[in-house]
Amino acid sequence: MTFFFPTESLRAFPPRLYPDYKSTVKRSPTKPLIIIPHTLSELTGPVYGQDAVQPGDEDLTQQHAGEPIGERIIVHGRVLDEDGRPVPNTLVEIWQANACGRYIHVVDQHPAPLDPNFTGAGRAKTDETGYYKFITVKPGPYPWGNHYNAWRPCHIHFSLFGHAFISRLVTQMYFPGDPLFPFDPIFNSVADERARDRMISSFDLEATIPEWALAFRFDIVLRGRNQTPMES
Ligand SMILES: [Fe+2]
Repeated sequence: MTFFFPTESLRAFPPRLYPDYKSTVKRSPTKPLIIIPHTLSELTGPVYGQDAVQPGDEDLTQQHAGEPIGERIIVHGRVLDEDGRPVPNTLVEIWQANACGRYIHVVDQHPAPLDPNFTGAGRAKTDETGYYKFITVKPGPYPWGNHYNAWRPCHIHFSLFGHAFISRLVTQMYFPGDPLFPFDPIFNSVADERARDRMISSFDLEATIPEWALAFRFDIVLRGRNQTPMES
């Protein structure tokens, strides 16, 4: 890995202000950004929660008395650097809506049922080959009020922590062939079509377990020309 930040990484990022995605109008800074030097504790302090990852944290279908309703799936892949080399010991956290498209969150009150057997959050740490794996159910699409009849494509939120607390990256994983892609401002805020494609998982027949679960592959590239688009 090179020791400077490759500028081609920036091309994958969506702009901070994307008016079709209405929340960015209020959230995006209106003044030039200020570079604040990192402190020693930021760079060398422990990464939040990494030591607390337990076996089973990666299985979102086993967190309650019963199994959640929905299409059981395996979501797996590798975290890679710009040269395609594995990034081990990365804390990978996910959160998602249930199969009906509803989050357990006080703000989410849209008329779809909660699932008493599904919280929708899990985490894992990459192994020495950069590999991670989750078992979950496929999230449903949900309305989000950004504009008339706005629905989010099915997606899983991802957060990655590297060696320092400040190295957090956040993105969303989508599913292949979703009919809502052309209508979603968040997905389309990533300008480059090839970069958008890197947010879409691929159906992975090899990893499917017969009679039990389908599988989707999602490799995450942290920087470089094949960078996975991240949220700013
Ligand atoms: Fe979401």
